[in-house]
Amino acid sequence: MTKAERLDDLRPKVLACRACGLRDAATQVVFGEGSPNARLVFIGEGPGADEDRLGRPFVGRAGQLLDRMIAAMGMTRFDDVYILNVVKCRPPGNRTPTPEEWTTCRPHLEQQLDILDPAIIVLLGSTALKALIDPTLRITQMRGQWIERGGRWWMPTYHPAALLRNPSLKRETWEDLKRVLDKYRELVNPRHESPHYPIISH
Ligand code: URA
Repeated sequence: MTKAERLDDLRPKVLACRACGLRDAATQVVFGEGSPNARLVFIGEGPGADEDRLGRPFVGRAGQLLDRMIAAMGMTRFDDVYILNVVKCRPPGNRTPTPEEWTTCRPHLEQQLDILDPAIIVLLGSTALKALIDPTLRITQMRGQWIERGGRWWMPTYHPAALLRNPSLKRETWEDLKRVLDKYRELVNPRHESPHYPIISH
């Protein structure tokens, strides 16, 4: 089976999940989206109001900023990357998901990563870092540093919602994304071009 077929197979199982309480208050499960053949995956926290309404990840203000970040990397949401969340259902009032909720949702994410088999994963914000690497870690200390684990390279950086609240974090975030582009050129495509980080610049 192709990756697209395997994701299509998994989707109805995830959409039917009621393993934690979040689905009760949510409109729908947000599976994630992107290119099934992406070698680069972004992982956020969980759906907000817009995502809950549309059933798609990162489509609100933070999502529009994420799309601009992806564009600055010379990529697009549906051609080059896949976008996932730590929990697939909107926490009421956009509160942070609890460790119990993200642990309960974890098998879905694991199966998605198994299928996608990305070389590089960008962890967007504190919740993704804590849920996927270690709950004691802090995003301010870990951002910009590669974590090599399970045959993949993980880069924690700030969540786009944090950049909307505090635009001065954008500069550091772009430094982190340039590290991701370096790794992408090393592992995936040495000729990958980015409008803001040309190959000749380093
Ligand atoms: N914030 C997230 O972490 N995920 C989304 O899908 C949208 C906003």
